[in-house]
Amino acid sequence: MRSPRDFFAPLALGAPQPLHEIPFRPSRMIHFFDPSNERMRAKVPDIAPTVDVLLGNLEDAVSADSKDAARAGLIEVGKAWERGHTQLWTRVNSLDSPWFLDDVWALCHEIGDKLDVIMVPKVEGPEDIHYVDRLLAQLEARVGIEQPLLVHAILETARGVANVESICLASPRMQGLSLGPADLAADRRMKTTRVGGGHPGYLVRTDPVPGTDDDARTAFQQDLWHYTLARMVDACGTAGILPYYGPFGDIADPVGCEDQFRNAYLLGCVGAWSLHPSQIAIAKRVFSPEPAEVAWAQRVVTEMGDGTGAVMIDGKMQDDATVKQCRVVLQLARDLSAADPELAAAYGLETA
Ligand code: GLV
Ligand code: MG
Repeated sequence: MRSPRDFFAPLALGAPQPLHEIPFRPSRMIHFFDPSNERMRAKVPDIAPTVDVLLGNLEDAVSADSKDAARAGLIEVGKAWERGHTQLWTRVNSLDSPWFLDDVWALCHEIGDKLDVIMVPKVEGPEDIHYVDRLLAQLEARVGIEQPLLVHAILETARGVANVESICLASPRMQGLSLGPADLAADRRMKTTRVGGGHPGYLVRTDPVPGTDDDARTAFQQDLWHYTLARMVDACGTAGILPYYGPFGDIADPVGCEDQFRNAYLLGCVGAWSLHPSQIAIAKRVFSPEPAEVAWAQRVVTEMGDGTGAVMIDGKMQDDATVKQCRVVLQLARDLSAADPELAAAYGLETA
């Protein structure tokens, strides 16, 4: 048992003070790139200003014989990186892999002052986060990193989902969670071979009507990921950290991608991964509130005055609870506008 008073004490002598709150920084898209690929590295200066988060991926999708090159490539990118609105993240290899220790050791030593968040895949329980937490504290102290490195866990095993609340609450470093639908499907023995998205076989159908053909019965496709995403959103809300949809693998289906991202946005997620440049604009559009929604929220907040009581606006009842809903939308609009004058203009908000 640890005293709650110790929760915010650094885990190594000389490590920085853990943060009391996870700062909200726009992260509508976490754009993945393979740092072992020289062509992709060369595109970083052009792509970085167009995304909220650029992530150097060292894990799956990087072949075993490219792991060292990917790590070295990310270090090269990190050394040239200037901290600004765009965040630099990495996804390291999993804790049981032969590469994790070298990944974290090298990244902390070489670019520990440039990285914002370390994404850890296949997190199964709070013990995984405790291990990473202590290791990062030791490395921060050893290297002299002044800003605590934050940790983002991918939820992609059945045990991880079962432990989701304790994972989120395991350390003040926890920044957020992403859904990892491909690994999660495999681990759960789900029978989809897609990366995220729906499945035409997962549906409910209206009842049979005697004397009519089964073809007349309407079927509605359901969302395979709803349960997991909803649990993630509640676990993150409990811990004061941020939930994200993960990857949508069918790059050729921008409409399906937009629908999945929007479901996640409406449920409470703040962003999603982009695996291809074409998904950047989709995530930006979906995870920014629509100007009409922002205008409506502003109207409700203005007409509700001190936020108590009830008023009718256009036939819709407003009260203390709806004003809170509207404040959520307005706060997001303000947070996003602070770094995006175009969005600020669309919302009619002043930028600082
Ligand atoms: C992502 O890592 C996934 O497994 O879907
Ligand atoms: Mg995965």
